[in-house]
Amino acid sequence: MPARLEIDGGVPLRGSVGVSGAKNAALPALAAALLTEEPVRLTNVPGLVDVRTMGRLLETLGATVRREGGELTARAARITSDVAPYDLVSTMRASVLVLGPLVARHGTARVALPGGCAIGVRPIDQHLKGLARLGAEIAIENGYVVARASRLKGARIATDLVTVTGTENLMMAAALAEGTTVIENAAREPEIVDLAALLTSMGARIRGAGTGRVEIEGAPDLGGATHRIIPDRIEAGTLIVAGAITGGDVTVADLVPDHLSALIAKLEECGVPLEVGATSVRVRGPERPLAADVTTSPFPGFPTDMQAQLMTLLGLADGQARVTETIFENRFMHVAELARMGARIETDGAIAVIRGVARYQGAPVMASDLRASAALVLAGLAAQGRTTVSRVYHLDRGYERLEVKLAALGARIERRA
Ligand code: EPZ
Repeated sequence: MPARLEIDGGVPLRGSVGVSGAKNAALPALAAALLTEEPVRLTNVPGLVDVRTMGRLLETLGATVRREGGELTARAARITSDVAPYDLVSTMRASVLVLGPLVARHGTARVALPGGCAIGVRPIDQHLKGLARLGAEIAIENGYVVARASRLKGARIATDLVTVTGTENLMMAAALAEGTTVIENAAREPEIVDLAALLTSMGARIRGAGTGRVEIEGAPDLGGATHRIIPDRIEAGTLIVAGAITGGDVTVADLVPDHLSALIAKLEECGVPLEVGATSVRVRGPERPLAADVTTSPFPGFPTDMQAQLMTLLGLADGQARVTETIFENRFMHVAELARMGARIETDGAIAVIRGVARYQGAPVMASDLRASAALVLAGLAAQGRTTVSRVYHLDRGYERLEVKLAALGARIERRA
């Protein structure tokens, strides 16, 4: 039986806990190492399955990747292959982030189409349209994207929708293009700003990262750099909700409050008292949260990656709440499992209506995707009795030793192989 977590709920969490580096900043930062022959040294890198997968992908392309504790040094002195194979890409969609750097640095790339995942089809058409605007020839052959360009040329790109990894792919490609690139309708996530900081320290000239319009001045080549990965705002948010849902008193440290403003505002609307410091948030769980409606949207709106975790809290609220998921078409996989713990949730397309109940009952539940599995852990922490969360490999993709951090706050939680 694959690893599972066993949780005996009902314990108010107490104490303080530190946040690890951001998965969704570490993955593009590793891909950026392909843009230079020099070493790129990353610090505060989380120990996650997805980070290890990206490291393996870089190695198949000819890079060396060396981890020492929280530091990871990647060096692509030479590119010896331009293929990102299906077996790697199908386990981690973020592999598509090597497409832009490969075309820019090496001139050719063959990246398996990522295919869908639990939360949706997740096409990459915007990535491909943007690269074509930069002068790449794009073809789809036997399930692979084949991209070629002798030298990319700066261009004006207007994406049809806001895409995080699409913006990141195009920023990285533009960093080595000839001339200036402007990306309109760019994603504004903190991870975009972090990637721009890394590219800048490698010698790129980028303006507007974090706004909807990013301007990149291409350079003939880029150098190495040392860069500290920003804290993971989604892990931080998950830990804050853990304090709230268990009625505890938890200080979540090593975070950037500005990365969490939509979540903080929503939790205050739910009657969760928060003390926001310079690099920490102290949360004291209310007797019972209030119901509040939430709609996910691109940063700085409420993050889709926190939707399942907030829904779990709303499932115990005093009243009825509506959750509208606007980013992914199938991101309510946690609803059926929460219902097995006693939650009363009706879904209709992108909308879920939650009628709060007094308590969850512990139950055996199954994780389906990364953030849904985090939501089930939160429900288990609050539930009466024992919850067993199976297929916990989903959790390990995006959370570094979550059960160890929660146990240190007093949770009765154990990993069973
Ligand atoms: C990033 O995924 C994150 N992953 C996701 O986190 C996050 O949920 C998502 O952004 C939204 O914030 C990484 O950064 C590695 P998108 P990404 O492109 O870039 C559609 C997690 O839990 N779209 O912003 O793949 C797409 O289908 C993961 O850590 C197109 O139609 O998301 C989706 O509906 C899950 N065509 C919407 O746009 C495209 O070319 C937003 O997707 C690209 C995207």
